[in-house]
Amino acid sequence: MASTKKVQDKVVIVTGGASGIGEATVLAFVENGARGVVIADIQDEKGQKLVESIGTNRSTYIHCNVADENQVKSLVESTVQLYGQLDVIFCNAGVRDFGQQTVLDFDLDSYDKLFAVNIRGVAACLKHAARAMVKGGVKGSIICTASTVVNLVASTLTDYIMAKCGVVALMKCASYQLGKHGIRVNCVSPGLVATPMVCEANNMGVEEVEKLYESSYCLKGVLKAKHIADAVLFLASANSEFVTGQNLLVDGGYAFQGAVD
Ligand SMILES: NC(=O)c1ccc[n+]([C@@H]2O[C@H](COP(=O)([O-])OP(=O)(O)OC[C@H]3O[C@@H](n4cnc5c(N)ncnc54)[C@H](O)[C@@H]3O)[C@@H](O)[C@H]2O)c1
Repeated sequence: MASTKKVQDKVVIVTGGASGIGEATVLAFVENGARGVVIADIQDEKGQKLVESIGTNRSTYIHCNVADENQVKSLVESTVQLYGQLDVIFCNAGVRDFGQQTVLDFDLDSYDKLFAVNIRGVAACLKHAARAMVKGGVKGSIICTASTVVNLVASTLTDYIMAKCGVVALMKCASYQLGKHGIRVNCVSPGLVATPMVCEANNMGVEEVEKLYESSYCLKGVLKAKHIADAVLFLASANSEFVTGQNLLVDGGYAFQGAVD
């Protein structure tokens, strides 16, 4: 009987896989039958602990700073060497802005640092993953993490919002160019999830952050990393086999905030 697991026997890379949304997605890929999940991150201890909890037969940790193209190239090459091919990459590693980042007080060095990870890093991962898929004749799926902020404005976070809009633009160009190879490219755009990134930025614990934002969602309840992981699984699986070039918002209706009633 054919497996009902969504990514049965697939080989997957998750960048930023040691924490938050990436970690939840790694676990979802493992639960759903992935043959090999490569966790690529710069938090070595966390990444290695996650591999220990999953088992080294199904997962591997590779140190990879996505801002460095050589490290990304080597990440993809090592994955193909270890598992024979690459079916799915979740380009998810990201950082928040390093200051307030308003237009009038733009710190362009911070802007460069953020862009190096949040947009250049995604471009490097997309490029090398797509090359491996084309070379291996794999009709793979590439998913990038943007954010619900691409549809919003803010008094700060200017460079973060710019970079996430860039990720959506990159995804659209890539989906158009790679369609002829049968490679799908989509984004997932999370609303606010109480991950370490968000808790640290707000200087709050998980429960405090969740309580603060609970009333912002149109749907009742709290947005969790697992909700984002479920959307990524959908985009990685054959359930979305004719879906490409899309930015899937997973925000409980947060983007309706500007609604006029
Ligand atoms: N949490 C949210 O509310 C939210 C909302 C929208 C979008 N996002 C996006 O989701 C993604 C995941 O963030 P998260 O909230 O899970 O935060 P997180 O901090 O828990 O996870 C981010 C991971 O990326 C890794 N990382 C950072 N720089 C890296 C680099 N140069 N190379 C490799 N790995 C690197 C970190 O070590 C960390 O493990 C990010 O792209 C973020 O912008 C988060």
